[in-house]
Amino acid sequence: MVTYIYGQTLGCFLLFLIQIILVCADNGSCDADRCVSEEKGMASQAVVIYDESKISPFHKPNRKFLFVGKELVIKQDWEGLGIAAVVWDAAVVLCEYLEKNKDIVNGKLIIELGAGSGIVGIVAALLGGKVTITDLDEALDYINEVVDDNIKSIPGLEVRVQSLDWTKDWPDYSADYDIVLGADIIYIEELFDDLLKTFLQVCHENTKVLLSWRYRYDRDKQFLEMMRQHFTLEEIFYDSSRDVKIYLGKLIQKNKEKVK
Ligand SMILES: C[S@@+](CC[C@H](N)C(=O)[O-])C[C@H]1O[C@@H](n2cnc3c(N)ncnc32)[C@H](O)[C@@H]1O
Repeated sequence: MVTYIYGQTLGCFLLFLIQIILVCADNGSCDADRCVSEEKGMASQAVVIYDESKISPFHKPNRKFLFVGKELVIKQDWEGLGIAAVVWDAAVVLCEYLEKNKDIVNGKLIIELGAGSGIVGIVAALLGGKVTITDLDEALDYINEVVDDNIKSIPGLEVRVQSLDWTKDWPDYSADYDIVLGADIIYIEELFDDLLKTFLQVCHENTKVLLSWRYRYDRDKQFLEMMRQHFTLEEIFYDSSRDVKIYLGKLIQKNKEKVK
């Protein structure tokens, strides 16, 4: 009897594990699962998947990247801070794009919205931009730590980390910026109006918006349509391996005043 129960329990446990492996291997639409596919061959090595650190790079305490000749070690805190404290594919793709097109940011006044780990702002600063990295209050300590860990010791870089919650009023921010950067910030429908309002507040007619975006849900496209009421939006890059697009937006000045 004991053997039977033991066998059943073990069987259920193994089924559960197989289920998790299949779900992870099958669903390629979110970054966490994409991260599984980064670990190629994992699904066929079921035993290895017990090592949680291999399930998703999100669960790693840090990730290493090489940008502008510098190794960046980005601390992550998925369990604690959640989505703000991991590096999303859209951010990596935008960093790569900026590195290949450094004139976009070199010497420019830049603001990054919904910066999360801050890696995009950090790379923009390494490329010579004067960067304001922004996110919600609760993410600022984490971002400051990442910035300090990676670029504090490099003289001459111009980076600051500040609060900018799209849902609030922020008189400190005006349309001063040459470049607005945003990686994977189109994902909460309830925030679309506020996000658009934020773009409109920080952009002048010559500002370039670089939006790095992974399409997940139809509703995300709705934001692009909202943007198109006020900005020209051109797809300038597509990373097929990560399924991330970069859009370049420019304000249609005559439409700026229509949203308050
Ligand atoms: C999916 S994460 C992307 C983070 C980072 N840009 C990246 O690609 O790695 C979305 C980011 O938007 C930020 N965010 C969410 N709601 C916000 C709001 N109301 N105001 C400002 N930032 C917000 C989150 O804190 C988070 O850092």
